Amino acid sequence: MFSTASRRVISGILAAAVIVGLAACAPERVPTASPSPSPSVTALPAPVDKVKSFFDKTKYSLDDPKSVWVINDKLRPLNPINYAPPDMVVAPVKHISTPLMRPAAAAAITKMFAASAAEGGGEMQIQNSYRSYSTQVNTHQYWVNQLGDKGADAQSARAGYSEHQTGWTADVASYPSKCDIQECFATTPQGKWLAANAWRFGFVIRYPKGKQAITGYIYEPWHIRYVGTYLSTEMHNTGILTLEEFFGLPPAPDYAH
Ligand code: DAL
Ligand code: ZN
Repeated sequence: MFSTASRRVISGILAAAVIVGLAACAPERVPTASPSPSPSVTALPAPVDKVKSFFDKTKYSLDDPKSVWVINDKLRPLNPINYAPPDMVVAPVKHISTPLMRPAAAAAITKMFAASAAEGGGEMQIQNSYRSYSTQVNTHQYWVNQLGDKGADAQSARAGYSEHQTGWTADVASYPSKCDIQECFATTPQGKWLAANAWRFGFVIRYPKGKQAITGYIYEPWHIRYVGTYLSTEMHNTGILTLEEFFGLPPAPDYAH
């Protein structure tokens, strides 16, 4: 029925079809390196307590005296040295001297005092808050007269070096007063509550116990510094007690001159 020539053509066509067919059925080459993990594994979120969230240490300036993170210690004077905050308000709380603070700090301390009273920490009042450069000159001189230069420098900043000049700081006292500006404030209900809860409102105890070699100052359980809850929560969670250690700044036990 077919000529020899036709048979050859047909068998050639069949052979080509078999080769094409085999190629079509051949499995695709599977990459051997870096196989993708199965979607069911990658889709599982990590447990929440294992996720280390990123904390931005550059979010605010450490140098600008207006910054909520400004750090001043014996090696970091305010710049300018006679800086005065632009926008202070009187915090509507019990006080011994006029409770002037930057607005965010005033709002936070007002909330915190209310929470302490409501949660069993007792009533609190502000002993001191903002102090101008010239007030700090007098405050420091008072302590020099009482304790001599070395004793004064261990608990009172020289003018231009005090956090009180930033408007972010307050010395907290019990109401009624007990152990004001003394280490035994830490043993009062207010002192204990403040140590445990100040971070919730954006404050840190700026001069913790045993950190004089870092901060330059003796333990001041009454002196709180507003840094905002972003930072106070991170310091609470990491257990880092001083701003110098948190930001990797040099210890500041003494003035440079
Ligand atoms: N008592 C603190 C160190 C101050 O004078 O600012
Ligand atoms: Zn103070």
